[in-house]
Amino acid sequence: MNVNGTRYRTIWLAEDGRSVDIIDQTRFPHAFETVRMRSLEDAAHAIRVMQVRGAPLIGATAAYGVALAMAKDSSDNALHTACSSLLETRPTAVNLQWALDLARRALVQVHPDSREQAAYDLAARICDEDVAMNMAIGTHGLEIIAQIAKTKAPGEPVNILTHCNAGWLATVDWGTATAPIYMAHNGGIPVHVWVDETRPRNQGAFLTAWELGHHGVPHTVIADNAGGHLMQHGEVDLVLVGTDRTTATGDVCNKIGTYLKALAAKDCGVPFYVALPSPTIDFSLSDGLRQIPIEERSGTEVSHITGRTRAGTIETVEIVADGSDVANPAFDVTPARLVTGLITEKGLVAANRQAIAAAFPDRVRGA
Ligand code: MRU
Repeated sequence: MNVNGTRYRTIWLAEDGRSVDIIDQTRFPHAFETVRMRSLEDAAHAIRVMQVRGAPLIGATAAYGVALAMAKDSSDNALHTACSSLLETRPTAVNLQWALDLARRALVQVHPDSREQAAYDLAARICDEDVAMNMAIGTHGLEIIAQIAKTKAPGEPVNILTHCNAGWLATVDWGTATAPIYMAHNGGIPVHVWVDETRPRNQGAFLTAWELGHHGVPHTVIADNAGGHLMQHGEVDLVLVGTDRTTATGDVCNKIGTYLKALAAKDCGVPFYVALPSPTIDFSLSDGLRQIPIEERSGTEVSHITGRTRAGTIETVEIVADGSDVANPAFDVTPARLVTGLITEKGLVAANRQAIAAAFPDRVRGA
């Protein structure tokens, strides 16, 4: 992604060849700032406080976290401690566990003297592969958008509704749900994106709107509850979201509120697509509702809201009546029956066990 004339990924090796730089996503949309991670603790902190977030980027950051740990101490014990402490940072996105399993399995086979370099190489590979998978997702998703565009009058945009941020900022580059959108836009297909604000952390308003705006993609931020109304009135051609964990049977866990969009889409006959790289599939699970751990976050994310005042200062204010209880489940599960299709790096895959297994036979064997 181009920001102020510079091409950025969301995570990269610093000039010293050891530290790792990230974009601090807690500062959006008001500031674009980078942060340097110098230790395992910095990486764990970045994931925990959501300086980095989004399933694929969480996995990539964890891989670099292991490398930072190995730079300090490359013993077996340090490797296991690093993986365990990173795994505890956030519970829902399975890419975290996927990246740590990969790192642990690969690095135990490497002599401790060579582990540091092997860990950095692995993290770099995970990042490069994420970019390649997202570009493939973009190509496959583009076909869906192009088909819908053919049904439109010349110049009339394809209207896409998205929830949370499954964009460039949630991955290493391109995004999952946004990759087809960027490719359509780059290819001259008119698109317009309805961006759910995505309370309580506002990833839609803060992040998706920011990155679509920087890329020149027409978009409109809407209140989370507006999507159903827009679908009833023919204003949405397709819903396109990401996921934090998808089961072997095609149940999709994503940011809280996704399920309601899927229900409305079903009722209105609007296709509901989920874009995901295969590391987001948890082949060990078959029942998303019962088996996927749902992160419970602080109630203050619901009771308070942060924004920029007219005077330009950033302030946090309380918006809930004194004495009210608040709850903050961060994700929900959309059952496979509500999913039109999974857009993966291997192409469009039906949200059912047979189709997913056929698309990823190696992952099924390894689960
Ligand atoms: O809590 P977050 O911001 O990490 O949640 C992110 C999402 O829910 C994304 O939609 C998901 O990770 C897919 S990212 C390609």
